[in-house]
Amino acid sequence: MARAKIALIGAGMIGGTLAHIAAREELGDVVLFDIFEGTAKGKALDLSEAAPVFGKDSNLKGTNDYADIAGADVCIITAGFPRKPGMDRSELIGKNLGVIKQVAEGIKEHAPKAFVICITNPLDAMVWALQKFSGLQPRKVVGMAGVLDSARFRYFLADEFGCSVEDVHASVLGGHGDTMVPLVRYSTVNGVPLPDLIKMKWTTQERVDAIVERTRKGGGEIVGLLGNGSAFYAPAESAIEMAKSYLRDKKRILPCAVRLSGQIAGVRGLYVGAPAMIGARGVEKVMNIRLKQDEREMFMNSVEAVEKIIADCKEMEPELK
Ligand code: APR
Repeated sequence: MARAKIALIGAGMIGGTLAHIAAREELGDVVLFDIFEGTAKGKALDLSEAAPVFGKDSNLKGTNDYADIAGADVCIITAGFPRKPGMDRSELIGKNLGVIKQVAEGIKEHAPKAFVICITNPLDAMVWALQKFSGLQPRKVVGMAGVLDSARFRYFLADEFGCSVEDVHASVLGGHGDTMVPLVRYSTVNGVPLPDLIKMKWTTQERVDAIVERTRKGGGEIVGLLGNGSAFYAPAESAIEMAKSYLRDKKRILPCAVRLSGQIAGVRGLYVGAPAMIGARGVEKVMNIRLKQDEREMFMNSVEAVEKIIADCKEMEPELK
């Protein structure tokens, strides 16, 4: 059977890390695309030279020509500009919307059957615009945010309990940003929900509240520490998890930015984070979680934040109206 083909649009920090993981895990042949041809070619060559050492046989190619992504099974998009310290996600809109338009056209022309995972921020609006510009089926276009946000939540919880990250499961909903909704009652250690762990005195409500807040601001914490750029290891690992579920038809249920059609709080037509089953057909199912009053309020607050950014996008790009 032919190898899978993975096109990485954007060969910056996340794009390079994605290429590294994809090659090490032999997920398929990798095409690294960037407007800066040298960056894409340099990283592809560097990784090709590493392959004999780690003993894997993926082919890697760097390019600035969309024709090279032809027939890709998966496209992962990081093209754009990352947040600078103190910069809000919404400030990125103007810059990244133009990039997403170009990328959508490239994918539509050369890889219209691909499963497309968008990482570029502001995530929920960019993935929405990507689907609109490209006209690809919504079930084949998703955004990566929830796997990363829940991984951050899981790490902070495992650290709090001093237990393995493998035994912590955490659930998040809503937009990727300060309004995201970590679902405390669906977050567990060995299947035991957080509210029970509070009763068992493993932690306190105040400490859980602080962890929720830290999770919401997880991206900004890394931006502040790095001083120049944003997180890349955890975002790359998270997108690879989603790509693998598609390529291997694993039907993992992963929190992703998906286009809702009423499954949660009746929201329709918007891309927002929700638990989705990812298999060979793309998004095969979205869990229709019933929210409690306070969760619903937080979720709708998050939806409103996404709607505001989409309204800005529509202002800037009449084609999106
Ligand atoms: N087409 C292709 N590539 C582009 C384009 C374009 N129109 N515009 C910019 N790029 C490339 C840049 O040349 C750069 O190599 O996108 C790459 C982005 O890489 P980084 O700046 O290193 O950003 P990274 O840390 O990888 O994050 C990418 O993910 O988390 C989000 O907010 C983050 O939107 C950002 C994205």
